[in-house]
Amino acid sequence: MKILRTISECRSTADAYRQAGETIGLVPTMGFLHDGHLALVAAAQRATTRTVVTIFVNPAQFGEAADLEAYPRNEERDLAMLRDAGVDCVLMPPLEEVYPNGDETIVETTRMANILHGQVRPGHFRGVTTVVARLFNFVQPDVACFGEKDYQQLQVVKQMTRDLAFPIDIIGVPTVREPDGLAMSSRNVRLGPEDRQATLVLSRSLNAADQAAAEGTTIEALYDLIKTIITSEPRATLRGLDIVAGDDLTEITGPLTTCAAIMISVEFGGILLLDQRVVSP
Ligand code: PAF
Repeated sequence: MKILRTISECRSTADAYRQAGETIGLVPTMGFLHDGHLALVAAAQRATTRTVVTIFVNPAQFGEAADLEAYPRNEERDLAMLRDAGVDCVLMPPLEEVYPNGDETIVETTRMANILHGQVRPGHFRGVTTVVARLFNFVQPDVACFGEKDYQQLQVVKQMTRDLAFPIDIIGVPTVREPDGLAMSSRNVRLGPEDRQATLVLSRSLNAADQAAAEGTTIEALYDLIKTIITSEPRATLRGLDIVAGDDLTEITGPLTTCAAIMISVEFGGILLLDQRVVSP
């Protein structure tokens, strides 16, 4: 497995792959990898012949400097996991390779970045698209994989890719879950046993919404159903619930006639967990 630090090393490696007739799958990450990331790697490996993973903790997508500093890092373990997974190449650029001195260019999806989670985390999605556009440009992959768990991020990246005509297929990879249905996240280890048990309410509410959608329902009834189930769990505090059009995240009301994305954030003992489900009539 090659470990690269500069754009020029990355370009020459990717060029050599292309000249040899290989296709390139990119998996952008911020490190501290878990099984969800390995599912992205596996999706890239299925779609292409060479997989490039980037590890870069992107300051542009953090609101507070403290959050950026507190972001967990474990380079040695990440590299061992990627080696075991058969990744071809890891790009770990220093800050100045990604954001060179005097840098002043940003990339933003002006509507999609500033709705839903974007209202709670101003600038976050602008930071994501700014770094992802740069990574796309460094690696020039055929395919790039992103988790469906960060559903708004996935849609924002798809929009940017279309708008800027990057010739890259964006693959959305289904959320990897614990056997009881909890979406994998590095935050899960911070849950106490009682809160961990209480998190089951997340998949219970999304399963119920899925079933209601399949039987025919309205958006308003879906909001009520999910709120009722979440609030029935005393250890859960509902922090956010949005049900929007699955493709462009616009507001929808009335009978469910097209696929809808349910995005939910719930706090358990001070730990905020996100989950999502795409439902259709
Ligand atoms: O999902 C992430 O880990 C990050 O937002 C990404 C896509 C690697 C950009 O920094």
